[in-house]
Amino acid sequence: MDLKNGTPEHAERPAKKRIAVIPGDGIGREVIPQAVKVIAASGANVEMKDFDWGADRYLRDGTTVPADGFATLARDFDAILVGAFGDPRVKTNIHAKEILLGMRFKMDLYANVRPVRLLDAALCPLKGIEPKDLDFVVLRENTEGVYTDAGGVFKQGTPDEIATQEDINTRKGVERIIRYAFQYCERQTKLDRSLRNKVLMCDKSNAMTHAGGLWQRVFKEVSGEYPKITAQHMYVDALCMQMVRDPRQFDVIVTNNMFGDIITDLAAGLQGGLGMAASGNIHPDKTSMFEPVHGSAPPIAGRNLANPFGAILTAAMMLAHLGFGKESSRIEAAVLEAVHQKKTTQDIGGPLGTREAGEWVADFVSRN
Ligand code: NAI
Ligand code: MG
Repeated sequence: MDLKNGTPEHAERPAKKRIAVIPGDGIGREVIPQAVKVIAASGANVEMKDFDWGADRYLRDGTTVPADGFATLARDFDAILVGAFGDPRVKTNIHAKEILLGMRFKMDLYANVRPVRLLDAALCPLKGIEPKDLDFVVLRENTEGVYTDAGGVFKQGTPDEIATQEDINTRKGVERIIRYAFQYCERQTKLDRSLRNKVLMCDKSNAMTHAGGLWQRVFKEVSGEYPKITAQHMYVDALCMQMVRDPRQFDVIVTNNMFGDIITDLAAGLQGGLGMAASGNIHPDKTSMFEPVHGSAPPIAGRNLANPFGAILTAAMMLAHLGFGKESSRIEAAVLEAVHQKKTTQDIGGPLGTREAGEWVADFVSRN
């Protein structure tokens, strides 16, 4: 297995890659065009094609995912760049579920890679935390857990109503994400090029004994194959406290679907908010999907307020995954410079709008 993403140098330039671009809803339609502009400015040898999947399309003709949609993405594209899905006009959120969870589940993108990096001390709400102190990654299992929609409701609307939500954990699913975490730790360096050396598995095995027991056994077994990497464990509640008390201690965290979802919002808060957080939904051997961590943010949508940096850093992550290491590094350096010079949107203290912040980064990338 080759982790590909983030590999720093590539001796050969990769052949032209095809990227499917799905801006989606709300601020996804504002931040993704900025990310696309920055990719173009980087000169990476890519061809991008837009897809109109999202609430508008669903409300117009009832389509969430066209009939051969996922097959087309898998066959004809090397990566997918996604904005966000969620629109107040679609109360059921059915399109978001079918598109986003559909991509993760049906395309089997089992590793949700969410880097947590602080670009400037001013962005962190904790006192005394510098960029060198905050550079860890959360690897979230992305295809099972409580997100499979297994379960049901019985006697709905009566005082005797019963709702169950099953937590699905397969041996195969748990093992491959844990193995991915150790391989990631072995191959990926920190921003300052220092080596990673710890993998922490986070669960709630004291209360959720069946699922937690499987995670515990698999973690023990797989960690035995990586004697040079320190294997650690923390319950998810303790981890939340530690993340706020002293985030310096973390390196690679691996966890299930729901805990990964929750702790990465907390982690985004340490980086300057949801507008700064990037992610990849990866299967090492398949077409993978990249998206900012944030949602469609309806209250600020259409107002040129959304921070485009999460989407731009997501684009950088995607380019590294595709083998464009140099272009990716130039984009990350440009975002870092924008943050230092306060050429940012208001959520992180700057005076610019979405478009202006995106243009500043694109311009910097094309000149450097
Ligand atoms: P959200 O991420 O859209 O917004 C949470 C808060 O962060 C809001 O205060 C928002 O204004 C702010 N925020 C988010 N991104 C920002 C950015 N780039 N710049 C500045 N501020 C930003 O999450 P929320 O409010 O829970 O959900 C809104 C909609 O998005 C819902 O329909 C939800 O289902 C959907 N959603 C979709 C996701 C996805 O497509 N991956 C992920 C999370 C939510
Ligand atoms: Mg979330």
